[in-house]
Amino acid sequence: MKGISIIIMAAGLGTRMKSSLVKVLHPLAGRPMLAYTLDLAKSLRPEKVIAVIGHQADKVKEAFKGNDNVNWVIQKEQKGTGHAVLQTKNALNDFNGTVVILSGDTPLLKKDTINGLIRTHRARDSRLTLLTVEPENPSGYGRVITSSDGKVERIVEEKDASDTEKKVRLINTGIYAFDKDFLFNALSEIRPDNAQNEYYLTDVIGIAGRRGIDINTIKALNPDEVMGINTRCDLSKAEKVIRQGINHNWMLSGVTIIDPETTFIDDTAEIGRDTIIYPNNFISGKTKIGEGCTIYPNSRIIDTQMGNGVKIKDSCVVEESRIGDNANVGPFAHLRPQTELGKGVKIGNFVEIKKSVVKDGSKASHLTYLGDTTVGRNVNIGAGAITCNYDGFKKHRTEIGDNVFVGSDVQFIAPVKIGKGAIVAAGTTVTEDVPADSLVISRTKQISKKGWAKKRRWQGSSSKGQKE
Ligand code: UD1
Ligand code: CA
Repeated sequence: MKGISIIIMAAGLGTRMKSSLVKVLHPLAGRPMLAYTLDLAKSLRPEKVIAVIGHQADKVKEAFKGNDNVNWVIQKEQKGTGHAVLQTKNALNDFNGTVVILSGDTPLLKKDTINGLIRTHRARDSRLTLLTVEPENPSGYGRVITSSDGKVERIVEEKDASDTEKKVRLINTGIYAFDKDFLFNALSEIRPDNAQNEYYLTDVIGIAGRRGIDINTIKALNPDEVMGINTRCDLSKAEKVIRQGINHNWMLSGVTIIDPETTFIDDTAEIGRDTIIYPNNFISGKTKIGEGCTIYPNSRIIDTQMGNGVKIKDSCVVEESRIGDNANVGPFAHLRPQTELGKGVKIGNFVEIKKSVVKDGSKASHLTYLGDTTVGRNVNIGAGAITCNYDGFKKHRTEIGDNVFVGSDVQFIAPVKIGKGAIVAAGTTVTEDVPADSLVISRTKQISKKGWAKKRRWQGSSSKGQKE
């Protein structure tokens, strides 16, 4: 059986996206659009995967560095899809067999569909097999024009189509299987005499038609799967389809998603079984959530690793953090990058933590800021306690030992170290290191002046009376 090579066309800027970012790098569920087509291509185990890139080629290569088995071919000027495929001629010199052509802007395509195309192509010993589809609304796509006996004759692009041709609903998906020799032979004949002055790959179909070569087709059943992304409207439609698929898979693997419509899980995230996700959560990047966790509504969790049994209460932002088993976070907490919480840690309302370690069993339940801090085990941080880690020039560390008790409204003027088992009295401003097991307190002595307030009120009201 003849081998397969895959060409992915991805050199265009994507004018209709109206963006300074090349189309194939626009993210879908947290990954660049092209990632989906590259994954699909590799899953078919072809001899070669060739991606034709041009616009922002360096950026595209950078986004996929480490993908060693992709041959990047540069199309310097984007003169059309036919011209793009022509650029792969050298890369395919030593290859003989079936060339499958995919587009970088068709990320919803499934393996079964493409396998169906390849099977049909092989079974009919075809030189050219088209993947077509018949959507409700064919506008924007190339129409497949057939003769009265149903044979495919050619493809006409929307911009070149007559009114009658525009009424045809059978469209070209831009996905094809070609015999390599036929493909390059026919490509040498195409000319840019059309509305866009481009070398259309689709003209190869007309050439086959004129030569009397059988053009086989296979129809995709689901138009959504082969939709090309040309505008931001298409992008959001595709995003929705991908997210639905991701949620569906997690539910089948044992995750409860209360409302899939309002749950946004990136393709790069992982979630353990028996975790429950409430509505309006964004689980982004390389986030890994353990088993039996509960994510209450309205949080955004980015690039974070979480153990088992963790609870994220409502409305938290959690970035690049690590959270130990059975820890509780929120409501309204902000864990900034490089936060590490140990097992059973409790981080409560309006607490912000940055670049800090909070070890097992410790608590900061209300209104606290910890920056550049190490908090030992079983420490209690009282309401309103904060680290003053920034002197206007540099950041400084605060180190709090195991079993320390920090009262409310304490300020740690970093750098400062609190020894194990110390008690920091409420209202204290800690400016120097504190030895283990000691009490530290810094308050001005309290004065109460008896009757002072009453007198003041009386004076105030009598002077008001005089004015009137
Ligand atoms: C193309 C087809 C159309 C089909 C549709 C399906 C042609 C002429 N038209 O139209 O029949 O219905 O796809 O989605 O082929 N590209 C390059 N170099 C270029 C031009 C484009 O690499 O010089 C790449 C683009 O980056 C994109 C793909 O080819 O990934 C398709 O190009 P696009 O401009 O989106 O073609 P459509 O107008 O959608
Ligand atoms: Ca397109």
